[in-house]
Amino acid sequence: MVPLGFLFSPLKIGGLDLANRVVMAPMTRYFAKDGVLTSDAAAYYRRRAEGGAGLIITEGAAIPHPVAQFRSTTPDFFGEAALAVWRQIVEAVHAAGSSIMIQLWHPGLGREVSRTNNPHEPSIGPSGYHPFAEAPTRSMTDSDIADVIAAYGEAAATAQALGFDGVNIHGGHGYLIDEFFWTETNRRDDGYNGAIADRVRFGVEVVREMRRRVRADFPIMFRFSQWKTLLYTARNADDPAELEQFVGPLADAGVDAFDASMRRFWIPEFEGSDMNLAGWIGKLTGKLSMAVGSITLEGPLRTRTDKKLGEVAAASAANLVRLGEMMERGDFDLACVGRAMLANPDWANIIREGAFDELRAYDPASLIQLECSEWKA
Ligand SMILES: Cc1cc2nc3c(=O)[nH]c(=O)nc-3n(C[C@H](O)[C@H](O)[C@H](O)COP(=O)(O)O)c2cc1C
Repeated sequence: MVPLGFLFSPLKIGGLDLANRVVMAPMTRYFAKDGVLTSDAAAYYRRRAEGGAGLIITEGAAIPHPVAQFRSTTPDFFGEAALAVWRQIVEAVHAAGSSIMIQLWHPGLGREVSRTNNPHEPSIGPSGYHPFAEAPTRSMTDSDIADVIAAYGEAAATAQALGFDGVNIHGGHGYLIDEFFWTETNRRDDGYNGAIADRVRFGVEVVREMRRRVRADFPIMFRFSQWKTLLYTARNADDPAELEQFVGPLADAGVDAFDASMRRFWIPEFEGSDMNLAGWIGKLTGKLSMAVGSITLEGPLRTRTDKKLGEVAAASAANLVRLGEMMERGDFDLACVGRAMLANPDWANIIREGAFDELRAYDPASLIQLECSEWKA
């Protein structure tokens, strides 16, 4: 018997009532043209909402800042044309009875400069240095910092005005906010570097500004990871005390829920306990927490960093037993599903019905075809 009662029980995040705890993970799909999605995106998200997910988190979208666009094929969260499509997406997901948060993204030095519309404009980061950055780059001035913080606030206000049910801040994977967290990329000699309290300051100021721009019960979720897109062994925190110094101030600044980004959700985070990153963050902050990473899949998100869409991963319901046990004992509150929900838009309904044999494998090649025809339909 798979203990999944918790997965299908309701949950409140701030003022938001979720029908269940199954969440679609934020996933970039490169379907935008010049930062604007087509209305097919509404059908794509609606299918996952109809498939039973209680909450959809959108692909990462650029905050209103000149070098926040990852590529020209990733969506903007500013400008009339882009926002008109986002409004349709919100309406489509709500019509299917689900909730939706926008993922707000500034890629910092992770920006793929040559694939943007403004390749001569340098990417920015705490110190202009990132082991995998594409030139040109420069370090952020005080006014850059103020501009980016204001842009996050603006994006949060826009999300609330468009009818989104909350925001998910991309604070992981080696992008801008995480570049401040990580010692390798933060080489500043001002108040934004030094102790963890200094490295977390930028993220805290972002959250505080967003909280100031939205109503008190508008949910703010924060994605935190140890791993970086191009370096899986990277870590921000080596023990629970260090982790607390990151997530404590973020919680105090106004985060309602943490999205703990892992590649395999069952792996213990620190020695001496079988709790994962989501478990630790929930315990240390007292806030809601969410786990992600290979739920119902036999292979993790990419074993090689050069495979953008990942590799073939077989479907298996085996790790649902562990998921259910961890949720039942209170380690985390939400389960976030990425690749398995791309391959199975109706993932939540399949699991709820126990129809595990119907789960399809994740295959990036067939996915590209599937999604193209899905989007053109
Ligand atoms: C195609 C693809 C695109 C992704 N894009 C994003 C993104 O825009 N923002 C983000 O925070 N994570 C992104 N991720 C990571 C997922 O949100 C998720 O954390 C990861 O896939 C692990 O979950 P899974 O094992 O269930 O797939 C992406 C993953 C995939 C496979």
